[in-house]
Amino acid sequence: MTEIFRQLKEKFIMKNAREDWKDYREALTALVNEFAGESIAVIGAGRCNDIELAELRFDRITLIDVDAAAMREAVNDLPAEIRGKINLTEASLTGITEQDMEAFCRQILDFLSERGRDLSADTFDAVLNNALDRLFEKALLAGQMLTDAIPKAHYDVILCNGVCSQLFSMVLFFVRSVAHSVASVLPEAIKIAERVEKRLSGMNERLIPDITGTIAAGAKKAAIYGNEDPENAQVEGAHQSIRFLRETFEPEERILQWNFNAAEQVKYRMRIQIVN
Ligand SMILES: C[S@@+](CC[C@H](N)C(=O)[O-])C[C@H]1O[C@@H](n2cnc3c(N)ncnc32)[C@H](O)[C@@H]1O
Repeated sequence: MTEIFRQLKEKFIMKNAREDWKDYREALTALVNEFAGESIAVIGAGRCNDIELAELRFDRITLIDVDAAAMREAVNDLPAEIRGKINLTEASLTGITEQDMEAFCRQILDFLSERGRDLSADTFDAVLNNALDRLFEKALLAGQMLTDAIPKAHYDVILCNGVCSQLFSMVLFFVRSVAHSVASVLPEAIKIAERVEKRLSGMNERLIPDITGTIAAGAKKAAIYGNEDPENAQVEGAHQSIRFLRETFEPEERILQWNFNAAEQVKYRMRIQIVN
């Protein structure tokens, strides 16, 4: 893994998540256990700071995430009898892998280091959109990968919590950072990054119904979704999933509070939607 991609991934690690998310983790684990059964898939499992793996009342637990290293961290210190129930599956809901993401960053950074200060709005715009086209080509072929990871009626329960807002968050973070770093020589970079943000939103509109629907079809007993739903605001990715679920399934809905970052007092109202 390149140093730049390692640093990018670091930015998304919440150092105090285990402590800060304790109440949220307990509440979410209790909610999931209401649907206890043989098998559960936890999508976007990551480091499993939002679910207590050792407390889950399921015989088989499959963790699914694009980030295999994070899932390994989640299970490394578990007692052997719990670890024995858990299977790790590296898969991307969008079809965009970490290697694709790394290639995306490299293409843009190589361009910038070749150009130095000799940048124009047209060439910057073209290189960003060309790199984005490549990612989207992968995403539009993702259907098969999605159903391989989540076959029809395969798990009793599927949990997909806090994931839909994150599908393109790393792309956007990277593009915004690059735009800010070149803004002193190319002020138009900020507007160009805003247009990228709109393209990413369009991609969420296209992909999220498929992803959300595939998850519902993969669960025999209950599909449980959690998405950020602040009062008087919308979170990109999350709101498309909430809307699609309401339009398609009439889910049962509950609210949980996610104490996301205690030091910075960031909290999210999470809308839990249950399809069963
Ligand atoms: C905010 S975290 C959810 C919280 C996480 N369960 C935890 O406890 O740390 C979002 C997770 O979604 C994963 N993710 C983002 N895009 C993904 C994709 N395309 N496919 C699968 N997982 C993805 C990230 O790697 C991350 O682990």
